[in-house]
Amino acid sequence: MRPEHPEQIVQATLDKYARYINAGLAKLYRFADVMTTEWEASGAVIRDIYGKEYLDCSGGPAVFNVGHRHPRVIAAVQEQLDRMPMSVRAMPRQGEADLAELLAQITPGDLQYTFFANSGAEANEGALKLARLATGRTEFVAAEGAFHGKTMGALSASGRDKYKTPFQPLVPGFRHVPFGDIDALDRAVTTRTAAVILEPIQGENGVIIPPDTYLPAVREICTRRGALLILDEVQTGLARTGRMFACEHWGVVPDILTMAKALGGGVVPIGAFTGRPSVWKALESDPYLHSSTFGGNPLACAAGIATIRVIQDEHLAERAGELGGYLLDRLTEVARRHSGIIRQVRGKGLLLGMEFTDPDLVLLVTAEALQRGVIVFYSLNNPATFRIAPPLIITKAQLDRAVMALDESIGVAEALLAEVAADVKTHS
Ligand SMILES: Cc1ncc(COP(=O)(O)O)c(C=O)c1O
Repeated sequence: MRPEHPEQIVQATLDKYARYINAGLAKLYRFADVMTTEWEASGAVIRDIYGKEYLDCSGGPAVFNVGHRHPRVIAAVQEQLDRMPMSVRAMPRQGEADLAELLAQITPGDLQYTFFANSGAEANEGALKLARLATGRTEFVAAEGAFHGKTMGALSASGRDKYKTPFQPLVPGFRHVPFGDIDALDRAVTTRTAAVILEPIQGENGVIIPPDTYLPAVREICTRRGALLILDEVQTGLARTGRMFACEHWGVVPDILTMAKALGGGVVPIGAFTGRPSVWKALESDPYLHSSTFGGNPLACAAGIATIRVIQDEHLAERAGELGGYLLDRLTEVARRHSGIIRQVRGKGLLLGMEFTDPDLVLLVTAEALQRGVIVFYSLNNPATFRIAPPLIITKAQLDRAVMALDESIGVAEALLAEVAADVKTHS
């Protein structure tokens, strides 16, 4: 049911953002002319308070792998909601045990034990702590341009100064090397390194895919120096790139794998890290050394189990691979038509990035696309690139519609740029 006076709700919401959330954020929405609110969603479509439809080509980003409000996820969460939504944590919980078992089955190699958290940053925090505990070492090697979250440890591992500098000093002991450069990593990893932490594909850095030899070589260096390998699959995990986990593209098994975003089926937040038995031993003597009140809560676990079942039953990894190849071809044609302002289109599965010559063009194109009912977002660590990470259940016809809208939006940005250039010429 939509309200009778949507415009009043929109105004009041923006006013409250300005007064009670963040005046800068309210200003940004007003500046970008986003004078509406999210209202309802289903599959790959969201509707605003006025009933206008938008194709979700951002997916949260990468949260809605099974689409918005998948009926099986909703039913599982509803059943748990009616029975016991939250845990008193005094007795073992079946849902948490079942989800941990499922994760042991779907993660690669001998990854077996899982700790449940509530977000991607929290999953990475836990993984970093476990690496210190298991190795007795304190240093970490991470990648430039990386995004691992914004809590102190995760931020220390991340690679963009804009988000780090205001919060210095961060956690000591982190060294950053260029992503994809195996020689630099080889020089940085020493016998003091507790772990190397990497995304298999850098999502927030604009979908950067490393050379095929990179991750296997990283694995080999870590093993040789006794350092653990933490792979952050918060964005790439759960079928997004055409495999259940992106590291499978290169046959690499980390010591700890972190995930979040899509695991809750777009219904309940959840994060997790899964590790090898040899690493997990460090947590056995005191299982409360690392803990979380809401981690592994029954609602989130019900959502997680249903989500994994949907991904398996609907073959969403294969679907992401096929549709991703199709979309990459279509967007490459678009890039050819607008080669003056688009540098590159790249992607794996349904995680794609379109890089422009200037970040302002990305703002313009995303605003134009929104007007045309398509949602895409810029990447946090590479604002010249916008990311396309739609629900994996999206149809080819919906992708075609999105490509058409993006093509038009890019055309508008290109024309505007040409106008500005002509203006500058006449006035100089
Ligand atoms: C690879 C990666 N790791 C960690 C995070 C942080 O996750 P959260 O925002 O849930 O803390 C993100 C979020 O975009 C991410 O892309």
